Amino acid sequence: MIDFHSHILPKMDDGSGSVEESVALLRETLAQGVERIFLTPHFYPKREDPEEFLHRRAHAAEKLFSCGDDVLKRIQVYLGAEVAFFYGMSRYEELNKLSLGRSQYILIEMPFDRWTQEEVRELIDVKEVAGLIPIVAHIERYLPFGNKKYIDYLVLNGILIQSNAEFFISKRTRHKALRMIKKGRIHFLGSDCHNLSARPQNYGEAVKIIGSDLLRKVEEKEKEIITYMKRPQ
Ligand SMILES: [Fe+2]
Repeated sequence: MIDFHSHILPKMDDGSGSVEESVALLRETLAQGVERIFLTPHFYPKREDPEEFLHRRAHAAEKLFSCGDDVLKRIQVYLGAEVAFFYGMSRYEELNKLSLGRSQYILIEMPFDRWTQEEVRELIDVKEVAGLIPIVAHIERYLPFGNKKYIDYLVLNGILIQSNAEFFISKRTRHKALRMIKKGRIHFLGSDCHNLSARPQNYGEAVKIIGSDLLRKVEEKEKEIITYMKRPQ
């Protein structure tokens, strides 16, 4: 199983605050049966250019990988980013530098608002023009804004969808989450874990709720993607 969304790199964003916390989160991830994880710190184009971000990310990764803890040998880690949507991203030359594990897949955080047709078009153009395959981060967060109507259209256009484990864990949303995964409207899972206290690793709890039949579908899709991933050098 793969965790597609996490904030585990130390002092990179609002996630892990130290190498020790990052190591503890990775241990917990492994203990919950997840063998691979994408480290996806926030990338906000208005705050930072990609070079600066990649430099900070490399520094944080170096700190983590050089700590010598053996969990890093037991779990497969890939570097990525949670890229905040922006107009023009589909024509932005450096977008591919922010992809997941230097593959053609990219995790995109959409606006927390009712999406416009232009925004949806821009997202599809990331695929059509930039040649990267968008994975929409934590789909459940956009549903309260009336964006459900776009999901079928996005999936039909080859856009992939990630949901957080919490979508399945919360009794309030579980039914909706299970319906979406059954209909092929959720392809990947992520913990979106930030720390050991308020936003811990909870992937394992969601897996128990989803059950093995539906998980098999997720794992099939994961296999398609994993061959393209590169581990950090
Ligand atoms: Fe996130």
